[in-house]
Amino acid sequence: MARIAHLSDLHFGAHDPAVVAGAEAWLAEKRPDLVAVSGDFTQRARSDEYREAAAFLDRIEALGLATLGVPGNHDVPLYDVVRRFTRPLDRYRRFIDDDLCPWFESETLAVLGINTARSLTFKDGRISHAQMALIRERFRAVPKDRTRILVTHHPLFAMPIGEADAPSEAVGRHAEALQAIADAGVHILLAGHFHRSFTESARRMVKNAGPALVIQAGTATSTRLRHGESQSFNLIHAERNDRIEVQVVAWDGAAFREGSRAAFAFDGENWQSLSPSPSGEGFGVGAVRDEAAV
Ligand SMILES: [Fe+2]
Ligand SMILES: [Fe+2]
Repeated sequence: MARIAHLSDLHFGAHDPAVVAGAEAWLAEKRPDLVAVSGDFTQRARSDEYREAAAFLDRIEALGLATLGVPGNHDVPLYDVVRRFTRPLDRYRRFIDDDLCPWFESETLAVLGINTARSLTFKDGRISHAQMALIRERFRAVPKDRTRILVTHHPLFAMPIGEADAPSEAVGRHAEALQAIADAGVHILLAGHFHRSFTESARRMVKNAGPALVIQAGTATSTRLRHGESQSFNLIHAERNDRIEVQVVAWDGAAFREGSRAAFAFDGENWQSLSPSPSGEGFGVGAVRDEAAV
């Protein structure tokens, strides 16, 4: 059994310090096996914001906890045009992690992070052919019983949680990315960007998605809240790679508290919910879309 705390969209610079302290207190007490951060560490990719984000990570690591992170679109400078195009992730690499393809492996987990943030498509993400090759290569030698997890900032395909609940944009080259994650046997896709928690079997949203469970996180520490949600992150219990439980851990104004566990079992084709979705939604979201039409 492994436990992963999945935090996203920290947005230092537009964060609530009390919520940041609450997240640290929760992590110190619960001690997950891995703290995965799916991007948007900062609000505007400024050095002072990166310093605060790096200090947060340092404090978590000082607790003896493992961390793994990927950049988000807010971690690429928006207004500093020269830096945005010539050295878009310079500060990310300096303050957060020089490795844009981080890897974590334990007796039970194999976790790969991929950077989907780009200078040209500021808001929407993209995945490269080299990254797809890396996904296939990294997971190739992983023992079958380990839970394979891919962490990106942007979800790899359109989610029914975009602006005004319209389907969101898919990342560039998403059809090929879907093939790569299917070939790699990825069990869980962790992402953020929409500041909204959501869990669903990938095959229920797009064809050719492979046997992945899509887990989206809300914003852990920012004041940029959507749809009346409070700050939250996910606690994922990977009992086996065909049996996963997800708990949304939400800020109640004074502390982070775990909600009820939503259990999912893989039946060889789809992840089936054994209990209601943690966010109370995400199931029966409509017909499966043809990925070519998304
Ligand atoms: Fe964000
Ligand atoms: Fe984002």
